[in-house]
Amino acid sequence: MADGIKDATSSNQMWGGRFASGPDAIMEEINASIGFDKKLYAQDIRGSIAHATMLAEKGIISHEDKDKIVAGLNTILSEIKSGEFEFSRKLEDIHMNIEARLATLIGPAAGRLHTARSRNDQVALDFRLWVKEELVKCEKMLTDLVGAFLDRAEEHAETVMPGFTHLQAAQPVTFGHHCMAYVEMFGRDRARVRHAIDHLDESPIGAAALAGTPYPIDRHMTAKALGFREPTRNSIDTVSDRDFALEFLSVAAICAVHLSRLAEEIVIWSTPQFGFVRLSDAFSTGSSIMPQKKNPDAAELVRAKTGRINGSLVALLTIMKGLPLAYSKDMQEDKEQVFDAAENLELAIAAMTGMIRDMEIRVDRMRAAAGAGFSTATDLADWLVREVGLPFREAHHVTGRVVALAESKSCGLADLSLEELQAIDPNITDKVFDVLSVDASVASRQSFGGTAPAEVKKQIAWWRARN
Ligand code: ARG
Repeated sequence: MADGIKDATSSNQMWGGRFASGPDAIMEEINASIGFDKKLYAQDIRGSIAHATMLAEKGIISHEDKDKIVAGLNTILSEIKSGEFEFSRKLEDIHMNIEARLATLIGPAAGRLHTARSRNDQVALDFRLWVKEELVKCEKMLTDLVGAFLDRAEEHAETVMPGFTHLQAAQPVTFGHHCMAYVEMFGRDRARVRHAIDHLDESPIGAAALAGTPYPIDRHMTAKALGFREPTRNSIDTVSDRDFALEFLSVAAICAVHLSRLAEEIVIWSTPQFGFVRLSDAFSTGSSIMPQKKNPDAAELVRAKTGRINGSLVALLTIMKGLPLAYSKDMQEDKEQVFDAAENLELAIAAMTGMIRDMEIRVDRMRAAAGAGFSTATDLADWLVREVGLPFREAHHVTGRVVALAESKSCGLADLSLEELQAIDPNITDKVFDVLSVDASVASRQSFGGTAPAEVKKQIAWWRARN
Protein backbone atom coordinates (compact mmCIF):
# COMPACT_ATOMS: atom_id res chain seq x y z
CA MET A 1 0.00 0.00 0.00
CA ALA A 2 1.12 3.53 -0.71
CA ASP A 3 1.00 4.43 2.99
CA GLY A 4 3.21 1.47 3.87
CA ILE A 5 0.41 -0.33 5.71
CA LYS A 6 -0.14 -3.97 4.78
CA ASP A 7 -3.44 -5.39 3.50
CA ALA A 8 -5.51 -8.12 5.09
CA THR A 9 -5.71 -11.60 3.65
CA SER A 10 -7.10 -13.73 6.47
CA SER A 11 -9.30 -13.33 9.54
CA ASN A 12 -8.17 -10.95 12.25
CA GLN A 13 -5.76 -12.61 14.66
CA MET A 14 -7.05 -10.57 17.62
CA TRP A 15 -10.77 -11.29 17.37
CA GLY A 16 -10.79 -13.88 14.57
CA GLY A 17 -12.05 -16.74 16.79
CA ARG A 18 -15.65 -16.30 15.71
CA PHE A 19 -14.86 -15.44 12.09
CA ALA A 20 -14.31 -18.03 9.36
CA SER A 21 -12.94 -15.69 6.74
CA GLY A 22 -11.33 -12.29 6.48
CA PRO A 23 -13.22 -9.08 5.86
CA ASP A 24 -14.12 -7.79 2.46
CA ALA A 25 -11.51 -5.38 1.18
CA ILE A 26 -13.97 -2.51 1.45
CA MET A 27 -14.84 -3.51 5.02
CA GLU A 28 -11.18 -3.47 5.88
CA GLU A 29 -10.75 -0.09 4.26
CA ILE A 30 -13.63 1.51 6.13
CA ASN A 31 -12.89 -0.23 9.43
CA ALA A 32 -9.17 0.35 9.80
CA SER A 33 -7.90 3.36 11.71
CA ILE A 34 -4.21 2.48 11.77
CA GLY A 35 -3.55 5.01 8.98
CA PHE A 36 -4.12 7.80 11.48
CA ASP A 37 -4.25 6.34 15.00
CA LYS A 38 -0.65 5.14 14.77
CA LYS A 39 -0.01 8.67 16.03
CA LEU A 40 -1.13 7.35 19.43
CA TYR A 41 1.61 4.71 19.74
CA ALA A 42 3.52 6.35 22.59
CA GLN A 43 0.35 6.93 24.62
CA ASP A 44 -0.83 3.37 23.93
CA ILE A 45 2.44 1.91 25.19
CA ARG A 46 2.50 4.17 28.25
CA GLY A 47 -1.04 3.13 29.09
CA SER A 48 -0.29 -0.55 28.63
CA ILE A 49 2.78 -0.38 30.86
CA ALA A 50 0.76 1.31 33.62
CA HIS A 51 -2.04 -1.23 33.20
CA ALA A 52 0.28 -4.27 33.26
CA THR A 53 2.13 -2.90 36.29
CA MET A 54 -1.14 -2.46 38.16
CA LEU A 55 -2.31 -5.97 37.15
CA ALA A 56 0.89 -7.42 38.62
CA GLU A 57 0.66 -5.32 41.79
CA LYS A 58 -2.88 -6.58 42.34
CA GLY A 59 -1.85 -10.20 41.71
CA ILE A 60 -3.98 -10.44 38.55
CA ILE A 61 -0.97 -11.38 36.42
CA SER A 62 2.45 -12.60 37.55
CA HIS A 63 5.38 -10.22 37.96
CA GLU A 64 7.30 -12.41 35.53
CA ASP A 65 4.68 -11.90 32.80
CA LYS A 66 4.51 -8.20 33.62
CA ASP A 67 8.29 -7.87 33.19
CA LYS A 68 8.13 -9.59 29.81
CA ILE A 69 5.24 -7.35 28.75
CA VAL A 70 7.00 -4.17 29.80
CA ALA A 71 10.28 -5.18 28.10
CA GLY A 72 8.39 -6.12 24.94
CA LEU A 73 6.47 -2.85 24.91
CA ASN A 74 9.69 -0.89 25.28
CA THR A 75 11.19 -2.78 22.34
CA ILE A 76 8.10 -1.92 20.29
CA LEU A 77 8.42 1.72 21.30
CA SER A 78 11.93 1.90 19.88
CA GLU A 79 10.92 -0.06 16.78
CA ILE A 80 8.19 2.46 16.03
CA LYS A 81 10.41 5.45 16.79
CA SER A 82 13.13 4.18 14.48
CA GLY A 83 10.64 3.45 11.69
CA GLU A 84 11.29 -0.29 11.52
CA PHE A 85 7.86 -1.30 12.87
CA GLU A 86 5.57 -2.79 10.23
CA PHE A 87 2.02 -1.52 10.66
CA SER A 88 -0.70 -3.78 9.27
CA ARG A 89 -4.16 -2.72 8.18
CA LYS A 90 -5.34 -6.26 8.88
CA LEU A 91 -4.80 -5.46 12.56
CA GLU A 92 -7.13 -2.47 12.28
CA ASP A 93 -5.72 -0.05 14.76
CA ILE A 94 -2.73 0.92 16.87
CA HIS A 95 -3.92 -1.12 19.85
CA MET A 96 -4.03 -4.41 17.96
CA ASN A 97 -0.91 -3.69 15.95
CA ILE A 98 1.07 -3.28 19.15
CA GLU A 99 -0.52 -6.26 20.88
CA ALA A 100 0.14 -8.54 17.90
CA ARG A 101 3.76 -7.50 17.77
CA LEU A 102 4.05 -8.08 21.51
CA ALA A 103 2.84 -11.67 21.00
CA THR A 104 5.53 -12.20 18.35
CA LEU A 105 8.17 -10.77 20.66
CA ILE A 106 7.31 -12.40 24.00
CA GLY A 107 4.90 -15.23 23.25
CA PRO A 108 1.85 -16.20 25.34
CA ALA A 109 2.48 -13.68 28.16
CA ALA A 110 1.35 -10.99 25.70
CA GLY A 111 -2.15 -12.42 25.85
CA ARG A 112 -2.41 -11.42 29.53
CA LEU A 113 -2.05 -7.69 28.86
CA HIS A 114 -5.64 -7.27 27.73
CA THR A 115 -7.00 -8.67 31.03
CA ALA A 116 -9.49 -6.31 32.69
CA ARG A 117 -9.55 -3.81 29.86
CA SER A 118 -11.12 -3.30 26.44
CA ARG A 119 -10.15 -1.30 23.42
CA ASN A 120 -12.96 1.03 24.44
CA ASP A 121 -11.27 2.27 27.59
CA GLN A 122 -7.87 1.84 25.94
CA VAL A 123 -8.65 4.23 23.09
CA ALA A 124 -10.31 6.66 25.48
CA LEU A 125 -7.09 6.65 27.52
CA ASP A 126 -4.70 7.00 24.58
CA PHE A 127 -6.65 9.80 23.04
CA ARG A 128 -7.05 11.68 26.32
CA LEU A 129 -3.32 11.46 26.95
CA TRP A 130 -2.64 12.75 23.45
CA VAL A 131 -5.10 15.65 23.75
CA LYS A 132 -3.70 16.55 27.16
CA GLU A 133 -0.17 16.77 25.76
CA GLU A 134 -1.43 18.85 22.87
CA LEU A 135 -3.20 21.24 25.23
CA VAL A 136 -0.02 21.63 27.27
CA LYS A 137 1.82 22.46 24.04
CA CYS A 138 -0.84 25.02 23.09
CA GLU A 139 -0.60 26.61 26.51
CA LYS A 140 3.13 27.21 25.99
CA MET A 141 2.66 28.49 22.46
CA LEU A 142 -0.02 30.94 23.57
CA THR A 143 2.28 32.15 26.33
CA ASP A 144 4.88 32.87 23.64
CA LEU A 145 2.36 34.73 21.51
CA VAL A 146 1.19 36.79 24.47
CA GLY A 147 4.86 37.51 25.25
CA ALA A 148 5.44 38.75 21.69
CA PHE A 149 2.49 41.14 22.01
CA LEU A 150 3.63 42.37 25.42
CA ASP A 151 7.04 43.25 23.96
CA ARG A 152 5.49 45.13 21.05
CA ALA A 153 3.03 46.87 23.38
CA GLU A 154 5.82 48.03 25.65
CA GLU A 155 7.82 49.32 22.71
CA HIS A 156 4.76 51.17 21.32
CA ALA A 157 2.88 52.31 24.41
CA GLU A 158 3.07 55.87 23.06
CA THR A 159 2.68 55.19 19.33
CA VAL A 160 -0.58 56.73 18.15
CA MET A 161 -2.75 55.15 15.49
CA PRO A 162 -6.37 55.44 14.46
CA GLY A 163 -8.78 53.25 16.41
CA PHE A 164 -11.58 51.93 14.22
CA THR A 165 -15.22 51.03 14.43
CA HIS A 166 -16.83 49.74 11.21
CA LEU A 167 -13.24 50.00 9.89
CA GLN A 168 -13.82 53.77 9.83
CA ALA A 169 -11.42 55.93 11.83
CA ALA A 170 -13.14 56.44 15.18
CA GLN A 171 -10.84 57.79 17.90
CA PRO A 172 -7.06 57.80 18.19
CA VAL A 173 -5.57 54.97 20.25
CA THR A 174 -2.05 53.74 20.84
CA PHE A 175 -0.61 50.76 19.02
CA GLY A 176 0.38 49.45 22.44
CA HIS A 177 -3.27 49.48 23.47
CA HIS A 178 -4.26 47.67 20.29
CA CYS A 179 -1.59 45.01 20.99
CA MET A 180 -2.95 44.62 24.52
CA ALA A 181 -6.41 43.86 23.09
CA TYR A 182 -4.85 40.76 21.53
CA VAL A 183 -3.11 39.94 24.80
CA GLU A 184 -6.57 39.81 26.40
CA MET A 185 -7.93 37.58 23.62
CA PHE A 186 -5.06 35.11 23.59
CA GLY A 187 -4.89 35.25 27.37
CA ARG A 188 -8.52 34.08 27.46
CA ASP A 189 -7.67 31.35 24.97
CA ARG A 190 -4.91 30.18 27.28
CA ALA A 191 -7.31 30.20 30.23
CA ARG A 192 -9.69 28.04 28.17
CA VAL A 193 -6.82 25.67 27.41
CA ARG A 194 -6.14 25.38 31.15
CA HIS A 195 -9.81 24.68 31.87
CA ALA A 196 -9.83 22.00 29.20
CA ILE A 197 -6.77 20.35 30.78
CA ASP A 198 -8.49 20.45 34.16
CA HIS A 199 -11.69 18.89 32.77
CA LEU A 200 -9.97 16.02 31.02
CA ASP A 201 -7.65 15.17 33.88
CA GLU A 202 -9.42 11.91 34.80
CA SER A 203 -8.22 8.45 33.86
CA PRO A 204 -10.56 6.28 31.78
CA ILE A 205 -8.57 3.03 31.99
CA GLY A 206 -10.40 0.31 33.89
CA ALA A 207 -13.85 1.26 32.63
CA ALA A 208 -13.29 -1.76 30.37
CA ALA A 209 -15.87 -2.31 27.61
CA LEU A 210 -18.53 -0.23 29.38
CA ALA A 211 -19.51 -1.94 32.63
CA GLY A 212 -16.29 -2.17 34.61
CA THR A 213 -14.56 -5.47 35.31
CA PRO A 214 -14.77 -8.36 37.78
CA TYR A 215 -10.99 -8.31 38.37
CA PRO A 216 -9.76 -6.56 41.54
CA ILE A 217 -8.09 -3.70 39.63
CA ASP A 218 -6.94 -0.44 41.19
CA ARG A 219 -7.97 2.46 38.99
CA HIS A 220 -6.47 5.01 41.36
CA MET A 221 -3.08 3.38 40.87
CA THR A 222 -3.22 3.60 37.07
CA ALA A 223 -4.61 7.14 37.23
CA LYS A 224 -1.67 8.21 39.36
CA ALA A 225 0.90 6.39 37.24
CA LEU A 226 -0.41 8.14 34.13
CA GLY A 227 -0.43 11.59 35.69
CA PHE A 228 -4.19 11.99 36.01
CA ARG A 229 -5.79 13.67 39.01
CA GLU A 230 -8.21 10.75 39.61
CA PRO A 231 -10.10 8.01 37.77
CA THR A 232 -13.39 8.76 35.98
CA ARG A 233 -16.45 7.86 38.07
CA ASN A 234 -18.84 6.16 35.64
CA SER A 235 -17.70 3.39 33.32
CA ILE A 236 -20.52 3.91 30.81
CA ASP A 237 -19.84 7.61 30.48
CA THR A 238 -16.10 6.97 30.32
CA VAL A 239 -16.21 4.99 27.09
CA SER A 240 -18.97 7.18 25.58
CA ASP A 241 -17.35 10.50 26.33
CA ARG A 242 -15.44 12.59 23.82
CA ASP A 243 -16.02 15.92 25.55
CA PHE A 244 -12.29 16.33 25.96
CA ALA A 245 -11.87 16.23 22.18
CA LEU A 246 -14.83 18.56 21.67
CA GLU A 247 -13.44 20.96 24.26
CA PHE A 248 -10.06 20.93 22.57
CA LEU A 249 -11.71 21.69 19.23
CA SER A 250 -13.90 24.42 20.75
CA VAL A 251 -10.90 26.07 22.34
CA ALA A 252 -9.00 25.68 19.06
CA ALA A 253 -11.86 27.14 17.04
CA ILE A 254 -12.22 30.22 19.25
CA CYS A 255 -8.46 30.74 19.18
CA ALA A 256 -8.43 30.30 15.39
CA VAL A 257 -11.14 32.93 15.08
CA HIS A 258 -8.99 35.32 17.12
CA LEU A 259 -6.00 34.52 14.93
CA SER A 260 -8.06 35.20 11.81
CA ARG A 261 -9.02 38.66 13.04
CA LEU A 262 -5.39 39.47 13.69
CA ALA A 263 -4.43 38.00 10.31
CA GLU A 264 -7.02 40.19 8.62
CA GLU A 265 -5.66 43.28 10.36
CA ILE A 266 -2.14 42.42 9.25
CA VAL A 267 -3.34 41.98 5.68
CA ILE A 268 -5.00 45.41 5.81
CA TRP A 269 -2.17 47.14 7.67
CA SER A 270 0.46 45.90 5.23
CA THR A 271 -1.27 47.30 2.13
CA PRO A 272 0.46 50.35 0.62
CA GLN A 273 -2.80 52.26 1.25
CA PHE A 274 -2.59 51.72 5.02
CA GLY A 275 1.14 51.12 5.31
CA PHE A 276 0.99 50.71 9.10
CA VAL A 277 3.37 47.75 9.11
CA ARG A 278 6.04 46.30 6.89
CA LEU A 279 6.16 42.51 7.03
CA SER A 280 9.54 40.91 7.33
CA ASP A 281 10.81 38.95 4.34
CA ALA A 282 10.60 35.88 6.54
CA PHE A 283 6.79 36.03 6.58
CA SER A 284 5.90 37.32 3.13
CA THR A 285 6.38 36.33 -0.49
CA GLY A 286 6.97 38.11 -3.77
CA SER A 287 4.89 37.96 -6.92
CA SER A 288 6.13 36.00 -9.92
CA ILE A 289 4.89 38.74 -12.26
CA MET A 290 4.66 42.01 -10.29
CA PRO A 291 8.09 42.90 -8.93
CA GLN A 292 6.78 45.62 -6.60
CA LYS A 293 4.65 43.23 -4.57
CA LYS A 294 5.17 41.79 -1.13
CA ASN A 295 2.30 39.52 -0.20
CA PRO A 296 1.20 38.67 3.35
CA ASP A 297 0.79 34.95 2.53
CA ALA A 298 1.42 33.73 6.06
CA ALA A 299 -1.33 36.00 7.43
CA GLU A 300 -3.70 34.93 4.68
CA LEU A 301 -3.05 31.26 5.41
CA VAL A 302 -3.60 31.78 9.13
CA ARG A 303 -6.91 33.44 8.21
CA ALA A 304 -7.80 30.42 6.08
CA LYS A 305 -6.81 27.81 8.68
CA THR A 306 -9.76 29.04 10.74
CA GLY A 307 -12.05 27.44 8.18
CA ARG A 308 -10.69 23.95 8.60
CA ILE A 309 -10.35 24.20 12.39
CA ASN A 310 -13.95 25.37 12.77
CA GLY A 311 -14.88 22.62 10.32
CA SER A 312 -13.27 20.01 12.57
CA LEU A 313 -15.33 21.20 15.53
CA VAL A 314 -18.56 21.01 13.55
CA ALA A 315 -17.56 17.60 12.18
CA LEU A 316 -16.97 16.07 15.61
CA LEU A 317 -20.07 17.68 17.12
CA THR A 318 -22.03 16.10 14.29
CA ILE A 319 -20.31 12.72 14.69
CA MET A 320 -21.25 12.65 18.39
CA LYS A 321 -24.77 13.97 17.96
CA GLY A 322 -27.43 11.36 18.69
CA LEU A 323 -24.98 8.53 19.52
CA PRO A 324 -26.53 6.11 22.00
CA LEU A 325 -24.42 5.13 25.02
CA ALA A 326 -21.88 3.63 25.25
CA TYR A 327 -19.15 3.17 22.61
CA SER A 328 -20.03 3.15 18.91
CA LYS A 329 -17.57 2.85 16.08
CA ASP A 330 -18.62 6.31 14.89
CA MET A 331 -16.29 7.56 17.60
CA GLN A 332 -13.26 6.30 15.72
CA GLU A 333 -13.80 9.30 13.42
CA ASP A 334 -12.87 11.66 16.26
CA LYS A 335 -9.12 11.46 15.80
CA GLU A 336 -8.51 12.87 12.34
CA GLN A 337 -10.49 15.99 13.22
CA VAL A 338 -8.44 16.59 16.34
CA PHE A 339 -5.11 15.74 14.70
CA ASP A 340 -5.75 18.03 11.76
CA ALA A 341 -6.97 20.90 13.93
CA ALA A 342 -4.01 20.52 16.30
CA GLU A 343 -1.44 20.52 13.50
CA ASN A 344 -2.93 23.59 11.88
CA LEU A 345 -3.53 25.49 15.08
CA GLU A 346 0.10 25.01 16.08
CA LEU A 347 1.25 26.24 12.69
CA ALA A 348 -1.04 29.24 12.85
CA ILE A 349 0.06 30.28 16.35
CA ALA A 350 3.73 29.83 15.47
CA ALA A 351 3.42 31.81 12.23
CA MET A 352 1.56 34.61 14.02
CA THR A 353 4.10 34.78 16.84
CA GLY A 354 6.86 35.11 14.25
CA MET A 355 5.00 37.79 12.32
CA ILE A 356 4.27 39.85 15.42
CA ARG A 357 7.88 39.70 16.57
CA ASP A 358 9.30 40.50 13.13
CA MET A 359 7.03 43.12 11.61
CA GLU A 360 8.18 46.69 11.35
CA ILE A 361 5.81 49.22 12.87
CA ARG A 362 5.61 52.37 10.73
CA VAL A 363 5.13 54.93 13.47
CA ASP A 364 5.01 57.89 11.04
CA ARG A 365 2.27 56.32 8.92
CA MET A 366 0.22 55.44 11.98
CA ARG A 367 0.55 58.97 13.36
CA ALA A 368 -0.48 60.58 10.06
CA ALA A 369 -3.55 58.34 9.86
CA ALA A 370 -4.40 58.89 13.53
CA GLY A 371 -5.12 62.56 12.89
CA ALA A 372 -7.13 62.02 9.73
CA GLY A 373 -10.89 61.58 9.57
CA PHE A 374 -11.67 64.12 12.34
CA SER A 375 -10.66 61.47 14.85
CA THR A 376 -10.66 63.95 17.76
CA ALA A 377 -14.28 65.01 17.19
CA THR A 378 -15.39 63.15 20.34
CA ASP A 379 -12.72 65.03 22.30
CA LEU A 380 -14.27 68.30 21.13
CA ALA A 381 -17.73 67.15 22.21
CA ASP A 382 -16.37 66.01 25.59
CA TRP A 383 -14.61 69.39 25.99
CA LEU A 384 -17.90 71.22 25.33
CA VAL A 385 -19.58 69.11 28.03
CA ARG A 386 -16.76 69.64 30.52
CA GLU A 387 -15.79 73.26 29.92
CA VAL A 388 -18.96 74.85 28.54
CA GLY A 389 -21.46 72.71 30.43
CA LEU A 390 -23.44 71.61 27.36
CA PRO A 391 -25.51 68.42 27.60
CA PHE A 392 -23.67 65.70 25.62
CA ARG A 393 -26.38 65.52 22.93
CA GLU A 394 -26.10 69.24 22.25
CA ALA A 395 -22.29 69.04 22.29
CA HIS A 396 -22.55 66.24 19.73
CA HIS A 397 -24.65 68.54 17.52
CA VAL A 398 -22.23 71.49 17.78
CA THR A 399 -19.31 69.19 17.04
CA GLY A 400 -21.13 67.85 13.99
CA ARG A 401 -21.30 71.40 12.64
CA VAL A 402 -17.60 71.94 13.32
CA VAL A 403 -16.78 68.70 11.47
CA ALA A 404 -18.96 69.75 8.54
CA LEU A 405 -17.11 73.09 8.36
CA ALA A 406 -13.68 71.41 8.44
CA GLU A 407 -14.84 68.94 5.80
CA SER A 408 -16.03 71.75 3.52
CA LYS A 409 -12.66 73.47 3.92
CA SER A 410 -10.75 70.17 3.50
CA CYS A 411 -8.80 70.77 6.70
CA GLY A 412 -8.45 69.12 10.11
CA LEU A 413 -10.35 70.21 13.24
CA ALA A 414 -7.22 71.77 14.74
CA ASP A 415 -6.70 73.82 11.54
CA LEU A 416 -9.91 75.83 12.02
CA SER A 417 -9.49 79.32 13.51
CA LEU A 418 -10.92 80.29 16.88
CA GLU A 419 -13.23 82.76 15.09
CA GLU A 420 -14.60 80.01 12.88
CA LEU A 421 -15.24 77.86 15.95
CA GLN A 422 -16.86 80.70 17.86
CA ALA A 423 -19.16 81.38 14.92
CA ILE A 424 -20.62 77.95 15.63
CA ASP A 425 -20.60 78.26 19.43
CA PRO A 426 -19.47 81.55 21.02
CA ASN A 427 -18.51 79.79 24.29
CA ILE A 428 -15.55 78.03 22.67
CA THR A 429 -12.18 79.40 23.84
CA ASP A 430 -8.64 78.84 22.56
CA LYS A 431 -8.17 76.19 25.30
CA VAL A 432 -10.06 73.85 22.98
CA PHE A 433 -6.92 73.41 20.90
CA ASP A 434 -5.38 71.46 23.82
CA VAL A 435 -7.74 68.54 23.18
CA LEU A 436 -7.81 68.58 19.39
CA SER A 437 -4.37 66.95 18.97
CA VAL A 438 -4.14 63.16 18.84
CA ASP A 439 -1.60 63.03 21.66
CA ALA A 440 -3.86 65.04 23.96
CA SER A 441 -6.80 62.89 22.97
CA VAL A 442 -4.96 59.66 23.73
CA ALA A 443 -3.40 60.93 26.98
CA SER A 444 -6.82 62.02 28.29
CA ARG A 445 -8.33 58.52 28.11
CA GLN A 446 -7.11 57.41 31.51
CA SER A 447 -10.19 55.47 32.51
CA PHE A 448 -9.40 51.92 33.70
CA GLY A 449 -8.54 49.88 30.60
CA GLY A 450 -8.35 53.00 28.42
CA THR A 451 -5.81 53.93 25.76
CA ALA A 452 -3.72 56.54 27.66
CA PRO A 453 -0.06 55.43 27.62
CA ALA A 454 0.00 55.52 31.43
CA GLU A 455 -2.98 53.17 31.54
CA VAL A 456 -1.58 50.86 28.86
CA LYS A 457 1.64 50.54 30.87
CA LYS A 458 -0.43 49.41 33.85
CA GLN A 459 -2.12 46.79 31.68
CA ILE A 460 1.29 45.60 30.48
CA ALA A 461 2.60 45.31 34.04
CA TRP A 462 -0.51 43.33 35.10
CA TRP A 463 0.05 40.85 32.28
CA ARG A 464 3.80 40.63 32.72
CA ALA A 465 3.16 39.34 36.23
CA ARG A 466 0.88 36.65 34.78
CA ASN A 467 2.77 35.51 31.71
N1 ARG B 1 -9.96 1.90 16.70
C1 ARG B 1 -11.03 2.04 17.61
C2 ARG B 1 -11.35 3.53 17.80
O1 ARG B 1 -10.55 4.33 17.49
C3 ARG B 1 -10.67 1.44 18.93
C4 ARG B 1 -11.85 1.02 19.75
C5 ARG B 1 -12.52 -0.15 19.13
N2 ARG B 1 -13.54 -0.68 19.95
C6 ARG B 1 -14.44 -1.53 19.50
N3 ARG B 1 -15.34 -1.92 20.34
N4 ARG B 1 -14.45 -1.96 18.27
O2 ARG B 1 -12.42 3.89 18.25
